[in-house]
Amino acid sequence: MIGTRGTQAVSGLVGARFGDDWWRRGVVYQIYPRSFADSDGDGTGDLPGIIDHLDHLGRDSLDVDALWLSPIYPSPGLDIGYDVSDHSAIDPLFGTEADFDRLVVQAHRRGIRVILDLVMNHTSDVHPWFQASRRREAPYTDWYIWHDGRGIDRRGRPVPPNDWVSWFGGPAWSFDEVRGQFFHHTFLREQPELDWRVPAVEAAQVAMIRGWLDRGVDGFRLDTFNVFLKHADVLQNPRRRGSTAWARQEHLYDFDQPGLPVLLARLRAAVDAYPGTMTVGEMFVGTTEAAAALTTERHLVFDWELMTRPWSAPAFRAAIRRRARAFTDGRWPTAVLSNHDQPRHASRLASPVPGRALDRDAVARAAALILLTQRGTPFLYYGEELGMGDVVVPLEESIDPPAARVGPDFPWWDRSRSRTPMPWSPGTHAGFTTADRPWLRLGPDTASRNVATQSATPTSVLAAYRRLIAARHGVRALQDGDLTLTRGMPADVLAYRRSSPSDRHDEALIAVAFGPDGADIRLPASRRRGGWHVLAGTEIEPVAPTDGGRRIHLGPLEGVILVADR
Ligand code: GLC
Repeated sequence: MIGTRGTQAVSGLVGARFGDDWWRRGVVYQIYPRSFADSDGDGTGDLPGIIDHLDHLGRDSLDVDALWLSPIYPSPGLDIGYDVSDHSAIDPLFGTEADFDRLVVQAHRRGIRVILDLVMNHTSDVHPWFQASRRREAPYTDWYIWHDGRGIDRRGRPVPPNDWVSWFGGPAWSFDEVRGQFFHHTFLREQPELDWRVPAVEAAQVAMIRGWLDRGVDGFRLDTFNVFLKHADVLQNPRRRGSTAWARQEHLYDFDQPGLPVLLARLRAAVDAYPGTMTVGEMFVGTTEAAAALTTERHLVFDWELMTRPWSAPAFRAAIRRRARAFTDGRWPTAVLSNHDQPRHASRLASPVPGRALDRDAVARAAALILLTQRGTPFLYYGEELGMGDVVVPLEESIDPPAARVGPDFPWWDRSRSRTPMPWSPGTHAGFTTADRPWLRLGPDTASRNVATQSATPTSVLAAYRRLIAARHGVRALQDGDLTLTRGMPADVLAYRRSSPSDRHDEALIAVAFGPDGADIRLPASRRRGGWHVLAGTEIEPVAPTDGGRRIHLGPLEGVILVADR
């Protein structure tokens, strides 16, 4: 029922910052539920486990503004929850419906909003909609992308409607014997693609969305949202040169279709009926400019620019410049360094080239300072606040299905490595589970890299995240101010200013020394022609500026947030 949203749940938001603007000014924390905390000893993380650890996200610790839960719906688990068999329910693996409602209430009590991950491009093949559709049962007959093949090949097998390929390797079409037609799948064959051109499909999705909003949910991540529409006539993609089957096609027709903004506007309008909500679209294979083009009010789109850059000041400068050029006219960006599909940034950035390693914790702190001071809503990935790195998972233990298909035409980075359990304390399985075996192995360094140990260590990565988030929350310019790169800095220093367009006093200067030698830098004058002092930094005792607040000497991999002297 629209309009009555969360009379219990939402009013339970206690002391939440920023009002309806939280999606722009706040910090979001991604939880991968299987790996966060196991409360019932079955080796897999669950919702009560998350509730038990909400204090880690709340005011006395990290102090984030929202949490995003990767899928928690019933699923055969072939794509680890991204193959959903009922979008409106909680997978018993994670707990009960009541556990979910309790999680929303408990998060809201701490001023933390809840964002769900909606997988609406495809369903699991065991979803009742697909089962009915393959049997041509009304009203589901045309809910999926069904097509006849192009005849029979020499070995008597049906030929797919076109040569589209799956992102997970192999063809993007599979033949269904029950229906006698091909269905489309950008991902696994067990993830058939819904046909969003069918009005009943959109209506069903909107009804499902309203159901979650009525339960008090504050926003949604839209999984692979730019794939929702494909060309209605499933035209063949033009060929081009490339090293993989996917790269050898110019993807003109299998995603990013012209009707997408109109469809998005309709979805946004449905969500907008519930004030204070947001959506964030996962950009599937797209540039910063494409992400910006699809960004609208209260609809963010993940931009991967920062994530693709190596640890170098010129590379980060170039990324920031490109983002600034793309996200204009009030389009609000995101800032992301890690997620469940990519290598964790602490290990990635700290090993710029094989054989050369930087101090991972120092890189993690400096990267956090950059992430939390960008123009754009920061999204943290669980464990990054500990400087967690990728874990080597043997193929036989991998939980990432495409990893089993690796071959010359299909290179794949095994996503298991960045999805390993969260270490809470020293000791057995790092306090993640009491089971004999966690669902996925833990990292080798959890005896020291865990929440309890880092909480007690003021120089830890966790302590730095707490300081930096607190600094961000205290300065309006760091939340939604403009960003200008500072010129005339040494080559391995990244420096930029965040300033509020309306308040001359509200201004911050960020400087980070990327190199192993640190840097001696002259600070530009503040808007009020004065000097600067340090608000927070990567170090517990950050270096102070000299020369009346006009110079600073940064140590190796040191970063500072400065504010103008009054
Ligand atoms: C998104 C998810 C990824 C999943 C894919 C298919 O890219 O982030 O984990 O495999 O969609 O649903």
